[in-house]
Amino acid sequence: MIEFRDVHASYDEDIKVLDGVSFQIPDGEFVAFVGTNGAGKSTTMRLMNGLLKPDAGQVLLDGVPTTELKTSQIARRVGFLFQNPDSQICCSTVREELLFGFKALGEEGPDAEAAVDGVIREFGFDADADPFLLNRGTRQLLALASIVVLAPPVVILDEPTTGLDFRECMKVMGIIRRLNEVGATIVMVCHDMEVVADFARRVIVMSAGAVVDDGPTFDVLRNPHALGRASLIPPQVVDISLALPLMDERLVESPVALANTLDEMQAAVSEEAGR
Ligand SMILES: Nc1ncnc2c1ncn2[C@@H]1O[C@H](COP(=O)(O)OP(=O)(O)OP(=O)(O)O)[C@@H](O)[C@H]1O
Ligand SMILES: [Mg+2]
Repeated sequence: MIEFRDVHASYDEDIKVLDGVSFQIPDGEFVAFVGTNGAGKSTTMRLMNGLLKPDAGQVLLDGVPTTELKTSQIARRVGFLFQNPDSQICCSTVREELLFGFKALGEEGPDAEAAVDGVIREFGFDADADPFLLNRGTRQLLALASIVVLAPPVVILDEPTTGLDFRECMKVMGIIRRLNEVGATIVMVCHDMEVVADFARRVIVMSAGAVVDDGPTFDVLRNPHALGRASLIPPQVVDISLALPLMDERLVESPVALANTLDEMQAAVSEEAGR
């Protein structure tokens, strides 16, 4: 369980970045954090893996404040995919890269080697390839694989699909979904509302360092007020579902009336965003 209790955080003392954030994420959840640029999503992720400590309030992992945990204890529990995967690639071959996490944790040995071989097979990597020469999508997969291989109970992903084409995006998200199906807690920052709608079971909306909505994915994505405050456009599937109850009446009128229903909904979101 991850718990934020009235967390305040900043980088410079006078500029508050998080202003009283509270939530609980039980084991096994699949949560997406959404919100505008600068809302504090990445900061929230950094607090979750102990890279940043709160100015006030508490961040607890399984009931223990991160301030009382060693970096290595957090690293064993929480795998972290950074917003830019290149920042976590450092070795000269794919195999070394996948072994790196075990080395950092002092866990080298036959079990580590077997886990690395398994992941190389599963992802279809060339073990001897130079990570820096791989294309963007494959580098992202390698960064993800270097977390998967350690099998941490919690996986945090900061924008795992940004910059990927549709096929790469589906491959990465398929792997993330499988991790969740075998028990990992997934916490993901994502700007793509279609991906959020397809994969996350719960959504937390952030705006200006605060949580403005938190609930089951479909409920949150149907709330134009919270989405508007975070300048988010709901995914098509939500547009359609909101229009469905009105479809019968309006279809009889005309397809133009149905299109107007969708426009009205977009207008409600835009109006809220403009406030
Ligand atoms: N290392 C840092 N030093 C100082 N200020 C920072 C630092 N990182 C982030 N900030 C500031 O903190 C605020 C929140 O940033 P954060 O990266 O958490 O937002 P975000 O929601 O992840 O945005 P994005 O969608 O652009 O990734 C922003 O105003 C940002 O400028
Ligand atoms: Mg960010």
